[in-house]
Order: sequence, then C-alpha cells, then structure tokens
Amino acid sequence: MIKIGIVGIRGLSTVMGFQALDNVEVAALCDLDEDLLRKMQDEYHIEKGYRVYEDLLESDIDAVVIATPMQLHVPQAILALQAGKHVLSEVTAGVTMDELWWLIETVEQSGKTYMLAENYCYMPDNQLVRQLVNQGLLGDVYYGEGEYLHNLQSLVTYQYGLHQSGKTSWRKYWQLGKRGAYYPTHSVGPVMQWFGNDRIASIATFGSGRHCDDSLRQEDTTVTLCQLASGKLVRIRLDAVSPRPHQMAYYSIQGTKGVVESSRIAGHPAHIWLEGMDDSVDEAKWRPLADFAHHLPERYQHATEAQIKAGHGGGDFFIVEDFIRSIVDHQAPEIDVYRACEWTAVGLLSELSITNGSRIMTMPNFRKNMPYSEQIIRL
Ligand SMILES: NC(=O)c1ccc[n+]([C@@H]2O[C@H](COP(=O)([O-])OP(=O)(O)OC[C@H]3O[C@@H](n4cnc5c(N)ncnc54)[C@H](O)[C@@H]3O)[C@@H](O)[C@H]2O)c1
Repeated sequence: MIKIGIVGIRGLSTVMGFQALDNVEVAALCDLDEDLLRKMQDEYHIEKGYRVYEDLLESDIDAVVIATPMQLHVPQAILALQAGKHVLSEVTAGVTMDELWWLIETVEQSGKTYMLAENYCYMPDNQLVRQLVNQGLLGDVYYGEGEYLHNLQSLVTYQYGLHQSGKTSWRKYWQLGKRGAYYPTHSVGPVMQWFGNDRIASIATFGSGRHCDDSLRQEDTTVTLCQLASGKLVRIRLDAVSPRPHQMAYYSIQGTKGVVESSRIAGHPAHIWLEGMDDSVDEAKWRPLADFAHHLPERYQHATEAQIKAGHGGGDFFIVEDFIRSIVDHQAPEIDVYRACEWTAVGLLSELSITNGSRIMTMPNFRKNMPYSEQIIRL
C-alpha cells in the first residue's frame, strides 16, 4: 500500500484519482488553515490532519502531493525528498533559477520520484494530438502555440477559509507581481510533448505594457517565443488582467501534412485539417478533432466510470496513475524534474528577457548530472 499525504487544499483534486487505484491510500492532509483542514478531512474521509508540514513528513506516508502557493514548492519538495518521500508537485516547479538546480540536485541524490503535476498535458484533446503527431499524421511538426488567458485579478485577495477577510494572497506577488510569462507550464507543457525529445534552446518575451491595472507588475499580455534546439518555434501568450472571457487551454500545432487548432472560445471543440482531406489546399476545410477520437490512447478510450469521475475525461486519474507507476516500477516519471525545470524556466527567463528589452535568453540544458559550469544563463 502506498500512502499519500497532501499539502495545500488544492491537492484534493487528486483524491478521486488515487481512490480509483487499488494499492493507494490518501492517508493525510496538511493545511495551515485549521478550520478548512478539519472540514476537508471529514468531507474526503482522510484520517490524519496536520497544520505543520514537517509533522506531515514525520508520519508514515510514502509520497506527498504539494499544492501550496508556488513559492513553497521547491522548499517543500526538498524537505520531502530528504525525508525519503516521493513528490508530485503542482505547477510551476519553482520560482528562481537557483531553486531549480537545488531541486534537480536533491532529486538525483534522493533517488525518489519527482513528477510535475502538469495536468493540462493529460487533457484528452492534448493526448489525442500527441498520438496524431506520434503516428505521423501531421507530418513533421514545426510550429506550436499555447495560450493561457485567465483574468486572475479577483485572486489577488483570498476568497475562502481563513482568508475570506480579503487579505492579499500570494498571487499578488508570485504571479501578478512578476514580469513575463510567470505561469508558463500549462501552455508550454502539452506543446513540448508534441515535439518529442526536442528541447527549448532560447526564449524572448515581449509585453504589451500596462493598460488595465498598473497596481500589478504584470503587463496586460505577454508573448514568449521559444526557439527549439531543432530550430522549430513555439509561441506562448499569457494574459491575467485583460477584460475578456477566459481561455486557458488554447493550443495549435502545424506540421508539413496538417494542422490542429483549439477553438478561440473556451469549451468549444477543436478542429483539424490533414493533407488528403480535400482535393487541394485551396479548398481545405476544417473537420472536428473529435472525428479522430479513435486515435486517443487506449486507456482514455476505455476509461472506467471511476476514472472519468476523477475529472477531465480521465486525465486527472491518468496523471496520478503515471505518478504511482513510476514509484512502483522505479522508472522515470512522465514529467520528470528536467522537463519540469525547462518548462518552468521559460517563465523565469522571460522575466529576464522582458526586463532587458525582450532580449533573447539561452535556456540551460537541464539534464542528469548537469555540470556546474553549465548552470548559467547565456545572453
Ligand atoms: N494545475 C492547475 O490547474 C492549478 C489550478 C489552480 C492552482 N494551481 C496551483 O496550485 C497551487 C495552490 O494554488 P491555490 O489557488 O489552491 O492557492 P490558495 O492560496 O487558494 O491555497 C493554498 C493553500 O495552501 C495552504 N498553505 C499555505 N502555506 C502553507 C504551508 N506552509 N503549509 C501548509 N499549508 C499551507 C493555505 O492555507 C491554502 O489553503 C499553486 O501552486 C497554483 O499554481 C494549479
């Protein structure tokens, strides 16, 4: 039996996924907010509750889900790994470049599983596109896009629990208080999975300036261009303040034989065009991506009711299934610490880029046993 501890209430989004697995038990919950902690323990039938994270780590859990504010992810992941626990961490992996190197070093020394809980990678449409790319239906893919357009202004004050009083939240500083693409992994992660083993080699970020809210350091919209080692291109857009309906999961991918694009309207179906669908490219017409649902990974096609109930068409189950499988099989997790750091570093480098006139920043090559001499940021 693998015993899971969760820190931060948002981590409860994994509970149904864990409960759908035979060999796993969510044994403990930790949150500073005692009232919320006890309420959630009752609601989710979690036996042990802790306010102090170090006390959670002293219990007999095997793994921790870290779902606290972003600036706590690395300190809490390091403590967990040093205590011999496996880690599933919410996004992003960390908030400074040095933190990312501390994290990699600790994961390597601990020999424990560290996986980034980048749940957007597990959305059925994104998994379907990954299959279509892997099967070669889009040809050689060379351009991808990800956009996260989510007005977060209401979240700069706390909305629930202890903090209903309207106190300033961590998001005011660690998200909307940052310049550049501070929250890149939902946009970059799925797209980079479509590019297989390619890696991000450099980035540059451009901002629109502040026209909506000059109490925040974040510009209205930023666009970050990522050049891959192969020379291919990924564009991401982040917008947390513009007055507009949300669209947190817009993606596109263009290849030599076809293209897939999300709808610009959140919740509306994505579409696809592939070579051969029409007589000529001048007559090319979109088809619903759903027409290709039979290409979804088998486990998505045959998801059980309990797995689907976990959320996102089974995606919220498969992410925890992959985490547990990595622990049990002693295999590298699906989103390992190196990918987690590269995707996170897009945001950290983008801050440097945008504060230096949108200068191009070189991405360090995050990999196993990366030498100290390469733990630098080249301009
Ligand atoms: N993957 C997604 O789709 C997604 C969605 C929302 C949030 N997130 C991520 O989840 C994390 C949490 O976001 P949120 O919106 O739930 O934040 P939040 O501020 O609403 O909740 C954070 C919780 O952590 C608790 N907490 C804070 N410090 C703690 C500590 N030292 N020990 C124990 N508990 C502590 C707080 O009491 C609070 O209940 C963030 O990293 C965010 O980026 C991810």
